Amino acid sequence: MTVTILAIESSCDETSASVCMDGKIRSNIIAGQKVHEQFGGVVPELASRAHMQNIIPVADKALKDANCELQTVDAIAFTQSPGLIGSLLVGSQFAKSLAQSLNKPLIAVHHMQAHVLANLIDNPKPNFPFLCLTVSGGHTQIVLCESPIKMKVIGETIDDAAGEAFDKSAKLLGLPYPGGPLIDKYAKDGNADRFKFPEPHIPGLNFSFSGLKTSILYFLQNAGKSNLYKEEFNATEEEKQGFIQNNLADICASIQHRIVTILLNKLKKAAIETGIADICLAGGVSANSGLRKAFEEAGKKYQWRTFIPAFEYCTDNAGMIAITGYYKYLAGEFTDLSVTASARADW
Ligand code: KG4
Ligand code: ZN
Repeated sequence: MTVTILAIESSCDETSASVCMDGKIRSNIIAGQKVHEQFGGVVPELASRAHMQNIIPVADKALKDANCELQTVDAIAFTQSPGLIGSLLVGSQFAKSLAQSLNKPLIAVHHMQAHVLANLIDNPKPNFPFLCLTVSGGHTQIVLCESPIKMKVIGETIDDAAGEAFDKSAKLLGLPYPGGPLIDKYAKDGNADRFKFPEPHIPGLNFSFSGLKTSILYFLQNAGKSNLYKEEFNATEEEKQGFIQNNLADICASIQHRIVTILLNKLKKAAIETGIADICLAGGVSANSGLRKAFEEAGKKYQWRTFIPAFEYCTDNAGMIAITGYYKYLAGEFTDLSVTASARADW
Protein backbone atom coordinates (compact mmCIF):
# COMPACT_ATOMS: atom_id res chain seq x y z
CA MET A 1 0.00 0.00 0.00
CA THR A 2 1.34 3.41 -0.98
CA VAL A 3 1.68 6.05 1.75
CA THR A 4 0.80 9.47 0.31
CA ILE A 5 1.53 12.67 2.24
CA LEU A 6 0.36 16.16 1.26
CA ALA A 7 2.62 18.74 2.92
CA ILE A 8 2.26 22.49 3.43
CA GLU A 9 5.07 24.96 4.24
CA SER A 10 4.41 28.61 5.08
CA SER A 11 6.90 29.57 7.80
CA CYS A 12 8.34 32.69 6.15
CA ASP A 13 7.86 34.17 2.69
CA GLU A 14 7.53 31.03 0.58
CA THR A 15 4.16 29.32 0.11
CA SER A 16 4.82 25.71 -0.77
CA ALA A 17 3.02 22.38 -1.13
CA SER A 18 4.37 18.93 -1.94
CA VAL A 19 3.12 15.42 -2.48
CA CYS A 20 5.27 12.52 -1.33
CA MET A 21 4.50 8.87 -2.14
CA ASP A 22 6.41 6.17 -0.25
CA GLY A 23 9.25 8.58 0.54
CA LYS A 24 9.58 9.89 -3.02
CA ILE A 25 8.76 13.52 -3.75
CA ARG A 26 6.25 13.66 -6.62
CA SER A 27 5.79 17.44 -6.65
CA ASN A 28 7.23 20.45 -4.87
CA ILE A 29 5.52 23.73 -5.77
CA ILE A 30 7.01 26.93 -4.35
CA ALA A 31 5.47 30.40 -4.73
CA GLY A 32 7.89 33.16 -3.72
CA GLN A 33 6.79 36.65 -2.64
CA LYS A 34 8.35 39.50 -4.62
CA VAL A 35 6.46 42.08 -2.56
CA HIS A 36 9.20 42.17 0.13
CA GLU A 37 12.07 43.18 -2.17
CA GLN A 38 11.28 46.90 -2.02
CA PHE A 39 11.42 46.82 1.82
CA GLY A 40 14.86 45.19 2.14
CA GLY A 41 13.51 42.29 4.21
CA VAL A 42 10.40 40.19 4.83
CA VAL A 43 7.37 42.19 6.08
CA PRO A 44 5.38 39.73 8.25
CA GLU A 45 1.94 41.23 7.61
CA LEU A 46 2.46 41.17 3.85
CA ALA A 47 3.79 37.61 4.02
CA SER A 48 0.60 36.37 5.75
CA ARG A 49 -1.59 38.04 3.14
CA ALA A 50 0.42 36.55 0.28
CA HIS A 51 0.16 33.09 1.86
CA MET A 52 -3.64 33.52 2.00
CA GLN A 53 -3.64 34.30 -1.70
CA ASN A 54 -1.26 31.53 -2.76
CA ILE A 55 -2.02 28.57 -0.58
CA ILE A 56 -4.99 27.00 -2.37
CA PRO A 57 -3.60 27.37 -5.92
CA VAL A 58 -0.20 26.06 -4.75
CA ALA A 59 -1.74 23.00 -3.06
CA ASP A 60 -3.93 22.33 -6.11
CA LYS A 61 -0.92 22.45 -8.41
CA ALA A 62 1.10 20.13 -6.14
CA LEU A 63 -1.71 17.54 -6.29
CA LYS A 64 -2.13 17.94 -10.04
CA ASP A 65 1.59 17.67 -10.82
CA ALA A 66 1.81 14.52 -8.68
CA ASN A 67 -1.22 13.06 -10.45
CA CYS A 68 -2.83 12.68 -7.06
CA GLU A 69 -6.50 12.91 -6.05
CA LEU A 70 -7.04 14.69 -2.74
CA GLN A 71 -9.14 11.74 -1.49
CA THR A 72 -6.17 9.34 -1.85
CA VAL A 73 -3.93 11.34 0.50
CA ASP A 74 -3.16 9.40 3.72
CA ALA A 75 -2.09 12.32 5.93
CA ILE A 76 -1.59 16.09 5.90
CA ALA A 77 1.77 17.41 7.15
CA PHE A 78 2.42 21.07 7.87
CA THR A 79 5.08 23.36 9.34
CA GLN A 80 3.99 24.02 12.91
CA SER A 81 7.11 25.94 14.07
CA PRO A 82 9.35 27.94 14.10
CA GLY A 83 8.70 30.93 11.84
CA LEU A 84 6.61 34.09 11.48
CA ILE A 85 3.46 33.46 13.46
CA GLY A 86 1.04 35.02 10.95
CA SER A 87 2.56 32.99 8.12
CA LEU A 88 2.51 29.75 10.13
CA LEU A 89 -1.13 30.31 11.09
CA VAL A 90 -2.23 30.44 7.44
CA GLY A 91 -0.55 27.12 6.58
CA SER A 92 -1.51 25.35 9.79
CA GLN A 93 -5.15 26.38 9.62
CA PHE A 94 -5.34 25.25 6.00
CA ALA A 95 -3.75 21.88 6.90
CA LYS A 96 -6.05 21.39 9.90
CA SER A 97 -9.16 22.15 7.85
CA LEU A 98 -8.07 19.71 5.15
CA ALA A 99 -7.36 16.98 7.70
CA GLN A 100 -10.75 17.49 9.29
CA SER A 101 -12.73 17.55 6.06
CA LEU A 102 -10.91 14.48 4.67
CA ASN A 103 -10.93 12.74 8.05
CA LYS A 104 -7.20 12.01 7.69
CA PRO A 105 -4.42 12.24 10.30
CA LEU A 106 -2.52 15.49 10.82
CA ILE A 107 1.28 15.64 11.23
CA ALA A 108 2.99 18.68 12.79
CA VAL A 109 6.52 19.28 11.48
CA HIS A 110 9.40 21.29 12.96
CA HIS A 111 10.81 23.42 10.14
CA MET A 112 14.46 23.05 11.19
CA GLN A 113 14.18 19.27 11.54
CA ALA A 114 12.71 19.21 8.05
CA HIS A 115 15.72 21.15 6.68
CA VAL A 116 17.93 18.37 8.09
CA LEU A 117 15.77 15.57 6.65
CA ALA A 118 15.88 17.14 3.17
CA ASN A 119 19.04 15.04 3.00
CA LEU A 120 16.85 11.91 2.94
CA ILE A 121 14.98 12.94 -0.23
CA ASP A 122 17.44 11.82 -2.89
CA ASN A 123 19.98 9.01 -3.15
CA PRO A 124 22.59 8.36 -1.90
CA LYS A 125 21.29 9.02 1.64
CA PRO A 126 23.42 9.47 4.76
CA ASN A 127 23.52 6.65 7.31
CA PHE A 128 22.44 7.30 10.90
CA PRO A 129 23.82 8.81 12.99
CA PHE A 130 24.82 11.77 10.84
CA LEU A 131 25.70 15.41 11.43
CA CYS A 132 24.01 18.27 9.62
CA LEU A 133 25.13 21.89 9.36
CA THR A 134 21.90 23.83 8.80
CA VAL A 135 22.54 27.35 7.55
CA SER A 136 19.65 29.64 6.67
CA GLY A 137 18.53 33.24 6.98
CA GLY A 138 17.23 32.61 10.49
CA HIS A 139 19.30 29.73 11.84
CA THR A 140 22.77 28.28 12.06
CA GLN A 141 22.93 24.91 13.77
CA ILE A 142 24.92 21.72 13.94
CA VAL A 143 22.43 18.90 14.43
CA LEU A 144 23.19 15.33 15.50
CA CYS A 145 20.58 13.18 13.79
CA GLU A 146 20.17 9.71 15.30
CA SER A 147 17.01 8.73 13.40
CA PRO A 148 14.36 10.58 11.35
CA ILE A 149 12.50 11.31 14.57
CA LYS A 150 15.39 11.70 16.99
CA MET A 151 17.80 14.59 16.63
CA LYS A 152 19.42 17.22 18.81
CA VAL A 153 21.16 20.55 18.33
CA ILE A 154 24.80 20.32 19.46
CA GLY A 155 25.86 23.79 18.31
CA GLU A 156 24.14 27.00 17.24
CA THR A 157 24.64 30.70 16.74
CA ILE A 158 24.56 32.93 19.78
CA ASP A 159 23.61 35.99 17.69
CA ASP A 160 23.17 36.34 13.90
CA ALA A 161 22.56 33.42 11.56
CA ALA A 162 25.00 32.74 8.69
CA GLY A 163 22.44 33.97 6.14
CA GLU A 164 22.00 37.17 8.15
CA ALA A 165 25.77 37.60 8.22
CA PHE A 166 25.76 37.45 4.41
CA ASP A 167 22.72 39.71 4.05
CA LYS A 168 23.88 42.31 6.60
CA SER A 169 27.36 42.43 5.07
CA ALA A 170 25.77 42.90 1.65
CA LYS A 171 23.61 45.73 3.03
CA LEU A 172 26.75 47.51 4.32
CA LEU A 173 28.11 47.25 0.78
CA GLY A 174 24.94 48.86 -0.57
CA LEU A 175 23.69 45.63 -2.22
CA PRO A 176 19.94 44.85 -2.35
CA TYR A 177 18.20 42.23 -0.15
CA PRO A 178 18.78 39.33 0.04
CA GLY A 179 22.45 40.05 -0.56
CA GLY A 180 23.84 36.55 0.15
CA PRO A 181 23.63 35.35 -3.46
CA LEU A 182 25.21 38.64 -4.67
CA ILE A 183 28.20 38.28 -2.34
CA ASP A 184 28.58 34.77 -3.75
CA LYS A 185 28.44 36.12 -7.30
CA TYR A 186 31.00 38.94 -6.83
CA ALA A 187 33.27 36.72 -4.70
CA LYS A 188 33.88 34.46 -7.69
CA ASP A 189 36.25 37.06 -9.24
CA GLY A 190 37.83 38.18 -5.97
CA ASN A 191 40.92 37.46 -3.89
CA ALA A 192 39.75 35.98 -0.58
CA ASP A 193 43.12 36.60 1.13
CA ARG A 194 43.20 40.31 0.40
CA PHE A 195 41.34 41.48 3.54
CA LYS A 196 41.55 39.54 6.80
CA PHE A 197 38.39 39.77 8.86
CA PRO A 198 38.79 38.48 12.41
CA GLU A 199 37.51 35.04 13.45
CA PRO A 200 35.56 35.05 16.75
CA HIS A 201 36.65 32.72 19.54
CA ILE A 202 33.45 31.15 20.83
CA PRO A 203 33.67 28.12 23.10
CA GLY A 204 32.30 24.71 22.13
CA LEU A 205 30.34 24.19 18.94
CA ASN A 206 28.49 27.52 18.98
CA PHE A 207 28.85 30.25 16.37
CA SER A 208 28.89 34.06 16.44
CA PHE A 209 28.63 36.41 13.47
CA SER A 210 27.80 39.79 15.00
CA GLY A 211 31.48 40.74 15.45
CA LEU A 212 32.08 40.19 11.76
CA LYS A 213 29.37 42.70 10.91
CA THR A 214 30.97 45.31 13.20
CA SER A 215 34.42 44.73 11.75
CA ILE A 216 33.06 45.16 8.21
CA LEU A 217 31.37 48.40 9.28
CA TYR A 218 34.64 49.86 10.62
CA PHE A 219 36.57 48.46 7.68
CA LEU A 220 34.33 50.36 5.26
CA GLN A 221 34.42 53.51 7.39
CA ASN A 222 38.20 53.34 7.10
CA ALA A 223 37.93 52.88 3.33
CA GLY A 224 41.05 50.76 3.05
CA LYS A 225 43.20 53.07 5.19
CA SER A 226 45.46 51.73 7.95
CA ASN A 227 44.11 49.95 11.04
CA LEU A 228 41.34 48.39 9.04
CA TYR A 229 39.01 47.01 11.65
CA LYS A 230 39.00 49.69 14.34
CA GLU A 231 37.03 52.89 14.61
CA GLU A 232 39.87 55.18 13.55
CA PHE A 233 39.44 56.92 10.27
CA ASN A 234 36.11 58.26 9.14
CA ALA A 235 36.07 58.26 5.38
CA THR A 236 33.67 60.55 3.56
CA GLU A 237 30.71 58.84 1.89
CA GLU A 238 32.37 59.44 -1.46
CA GLU A 239 35.66 57.82 -0.38
CA LYS A 240 33.75 54.88 1.07
CA GLN A 241 31.67 54.31 -2.07
CA GLY A 242 34.75 54.65 -4.28
CA PHE A 243 36.61 52.11 -2.17
CA ILE A 244 33.69 49.64 -2.35
CA GLN A 245 33.33 50.09 -6.08
CA ASN A 246 37.01 49.53 -6.80
CA ASN A 247 37.38 46.54 -4.50
CA LEU A 248 33.95 44.87 -4.47
CA ALA A 249 35.09 41.43 -5.64
CA ASP A 250 37.96 41.20 -3.13
CA ILE A 251 35.77 42.48 -0.27
CA CYS A 252 33.03 39.95 -1.08
CA ALA A 253 35.53 37.10 -1.44
CA SER A 254 37.16 38.00 1.90
CA ILE A 255 33.80 38.24 3.73
CA GLN A 256 32.60 34.96 2.24
CA HIS A 257 35.89 33.28 3.11
CA ARG A 258 35.54 34.34 6.76
CA ILE A 259 31.92 33.18 7.08
CA VAL A 260 32.80 29.83 5.48
CA THR A 261 35.83 29.24 7.71
CA ILE A 262 33.78 30.04 10.84
CA LEU A 263 31.22 27.41 9.74
CA LEU A 264 33.70 24.76 8.62
CA ASN A 265 35.96 25.02 11.68
CA LYS A 266 33.04 24.25 13.99
CA LEU A 267 31.81 21.45 11.74
CA LYS A 268 35.27 19.84 11.81
CA LYS A 269 35.29 20.14 15.61
CA ALA A 270 31.85 18.47 15.77
CA ALA A 271 33.02 15.62 13.52
CA ILE A 272 36.07 15.00 15.71
CA GLU A 273 34.10 15.17 18.97
CA THR A 274 31.32 12.82 17.82
CA GLY A 275 33.42 10.53 15.61
CA ILE A 276 30.70 10.84 12.94
CA ALA A 277 31.78 10.90 9.28
CA ASP A 278 28.43 11.12 7.42
CA ILE A 279 28.00 14.87 7.20
CA CYS A 280 25.26 16.93 5.55
CA LEU A 281 24.55 20.55 4.67
CA ALA A 282 21.06 22.07 4.69
CA GLY A 283 19.31 25.45 4.44
CA GLY A 284 19.40 28.28 1.93
CA VAL A 285 23.02 29.27 2.57
CA SER A 286 24.15 25.83 1.39
CA ALA A 287 23.61 27.30 -2.09
CA ASN A 288 26.78 29.34 -1.48
CA SER A 289 29.47 28.17 -3.90
CA GLY A 290 32.34 28.96 -1.49
CA LEU A 291 30.69 26.93 1.27
CA ARG A 292 29.95 24.00 -1.03
CA LYS A 293 33.53 23.92 -2.27
CA ALA A 294 35.07 24.15 1.21
CA PHE A 295 32.64 21.47 2.46
CA GLU A 296 33.56 19.04 -0.32
CA GLU A 297 37.28 19.74 0.20
CA ALA A 298 36.95 19.08 3.93
CA GLY A 299 35.10 15.85 3.08
CA LYS A 300 38.03 14.66 0.96
CA LYS A 301 40.60 15.74 3.51
CA TYR A 302 38.89 14.20 6.56
CA GLN A 303 37.27 11.24 4.75
CA TRP A 304 33.70 12.30 5.40
CA ARG A 305 30.81 11.12 3.22
CA THR A 306 29.28 14.48 2.29
CA PHE A 307 25.67 15.21 1.33
CA ILE A 308 23.96 18.37 0.05
CA PRO A 309 20.27 18.32 -0.96
CA ALA A 310 19.28 19.44 -4.46
CA PHE A 311 18.93 23.23 -4.53
CA GLU A 312 15.08 23.20 -4.55
CA TYR A 313 15.19 21.29 -1.24
CA CYS A 314 17.77 23.63 0.38
CA THR A 315 15.72 26.81 0.47
CA ASP A 316 12.29 26.78 2.14
CA ASN A 317 10.10 24.15 0.46
CA ALA A 318 7.32 21.71 1.27
CA GLY A 319 9.27 18.72 -0.11
CA MET A 320 11.29 18.64 3.11
CA ILE A 321 8.07 18.89 5.16
CA ALA A 322 6.63 15.99 3.14
CA ILE A 323 9.64 13.70 3.69
CA THR A 324 9.60 14.50 7.42
CA GLY A 325 5.84 13.87 7.45
CA TYR A 326 6.42 10.51 5.77
CA TYR A 327 8.85 9.34 8.48
CA LYS A 328 6.57 10.65 11.23
CA TYR A 329 3.69 8.76 9.60
CA LEU A 330 5.73 5.54 9.69
CA ALA A 331 6.52 6.21 13.36
CA GLY A 332 2.85 6.94 14.13
CA GLU A 333 3.59 10.50 15.27
CA PHE A 334 0.29 12.33 14.69
CA THR A 335 -1.18 15.40 16.30
CA ASP A 336 -4.77 16.29 17.15
CA LEU A 337 -6.78 19.07 15.57
CA SER A 338 -6.39 21.44 18.53
CA VAL A 339 -2.68 21.97 17.69
CA THR A 340 -1.56 25.60 17.26
CA ALA A 341 1.33 27.13 15.36
CA SER A 342 4.28 28.47 17.31
CA ALA A 343 6.81 31.14 16.34
CA ARG A 344 9.51 29.59 18.53
CA ALA A 345 10.11 25.94 19.05
CA ASP A 346 12.11 23.63 21.29
CA TRP A 347 13.53 20.40 20.00
O1 KG4 B 1 16.78 28.68 4.15
P1 KG4 B 1 16.42 29.98 3.47
O2 KG4 B 1 15.93 29.91 2.05
O3 KG4 B 1 15.34 30.76 4.26
C1 KG4 B 1 15.31 30.82 5.64
O4 KG4 B 1 15.98 31.72 6.17
O5 KG4 B 1 14.65 29.95 6.25
O6 KG4 B 1 17.73 30.89 3.54
C2 KG4 B 1 17.75 32.20 3.03
C3 KG4 B 1 19.15 32.77 3.26
C4 KG4 B 1 19.25 34.25 2.97
O7 KG4 B 1 19.92 34.86 4.04
C5 KG4 B 1 20.07 34.31 1.68
O8 KG4 B 1 20.84 35.47 1.54
C6 KG4 B 1 20.96 33.10 1.86
O9 KG4 B 1 20.11 32.12 2.41
N1 KG4 B 1 21.53 32.64 0.59
C7 KG4 B 1 22.84 32.71 0.28
C8 KG4 B 1 22.97 32.19 -1.04
N2 KG4 B 1 21.73 31.82 -1.47
C9 KG4 B 1 20.86 32.08 -0.46
N3 KG4 B 1 23.87 33.17 0.99
C10 KG4 B 1 25.07 33.12 0.41
N4 KG4 B 1 25.29 32.64 -0.83
C11 KG4 B 1 24.29 32.17 -1.58
N5 KG4 B 1 24.51 31.70 -2.81
ZN1 ZN C 1 14.10 27.53 6.38
